[in-house]
Amino acid sequence: MSPAIKHFLNTQDWSRDELDALLRDAAAFKRLPIGQQLARRSIALVFFNPSMRTRTSFELGAHQLGGKAIVLQPGKDAWPIEFELGTVMDGEAEEHIIEVAQVLGRYVDMIGVRAFPKFVDWSVDREDRVLRAFARYSGVPVINMETITHPCQELAHVMAIQERLGTEDLRGRKYVLTWTYHPRPLNTAVANSALTIATRMGMDVTLLCPSEEYLLDERYLGWARENVQRHGGSFTISHDIDTAYEGADVVYAKSWGALPYFGHWDLEQPIRERYRHFIVDERKMALTRTGLFSHCLPLRRNVKATDAVMDAPGCFAIDEAENRLHVQKAVMARLARDLDQVGHDAVSRNRF
Ligand code: CP
Repeated sequence: MSPAIKHFLNTQDWSRDELDALLRDAAAFKRLPIGQQLARRSIALVFFNPSMRTRTSFELGAHQLGGKAIVLQPGKDAWPIEFELGTVMDGEAEEHIIEVAQVLGRYVDMIGVRAFPKFVDWSVDREDRVLRAFARYSGVPVINMETITHPCQELAHVMAIQERLGTEDLRGRKYVLTWTYHPRPLNTAVANSALTIATRMGMDVTLLCPSEEYLLDERYLGWARENVQRHGGSFTISHDIDTAYEGADVVYAKSWGALPYFGHWDLEQPIRERYRHFIVDERKMALTRTGLFSHCLPLRRNVKATDAVMDAPGCFAIDEAENRLHVQKAVMARLARDLDQVGHDAVSRNRF
């Protein structure tokens, strides 16, 4: 694969200038939704897990820019896929990622992948093997539609914050990422991403979680510290709810499973039950400076956030969900421009 081809796997791989350009393009698509930036272009959207927003916004986004999206759900409407190298394939999988990715790369111009962790062994899941295998073997740009990070959600989130605060410059704003209770241990992807992009934007970021057991993977804590060094702002870890909420410009909520118990959730269950009070409610939001709150959705009302918080004017979760459409169009259009530059065209079969 040509080194000129760029994937969208994590925002940390992209420069601030590139991310700012994507955000500006997304704002332009919000004003003018229809175009031909993906004319003759196609994208395979490979979903290993359910979706409402991601699937709808990618399919619609490709359509609105003159492109074609094809949704595949391996194990449902497409063959189950093997990812282990050198394995004897006598289990459920009917074909190997080496063939799947190469074949898709002959048909389409780019591939989106949603592949959540298997929730058995974090040391394996943290390698993001499924996403990286598509990037390695397909020969076309790959977009992360949520694996162990969720970079499209990051951009939609930042865009909505900029809209609500009325400025592109988010430096010096107090941003709180709070863990919330959920009956099941969830993916850390959105939390990893929120921490990454909020520090990248130079905000004063607080990660609020019940205890050290709920800290995120060291890779993302490291990215947060690195971003503060390079882009300013600050990064604080807090287990004190009121101190964290006090004076916040933005509160972002997400639930995730405690990594020390990864794959042993029966042991974590009684621990997380003690932390139901991390729900985002009116009393906590009254401590903030702006009352601005969001969540990536889907959200269980009155478990993660109360009805009053979700229905308050400061809740911008719906704006953020809408922005998924605009930012993903910006990402696909940017990757299509990259393909133009290297003369890749899946229709005429000119390849890099
Ligand atoms: N936020 C998000 O990715 O939503 P879906 O899981 O519905 O795609």
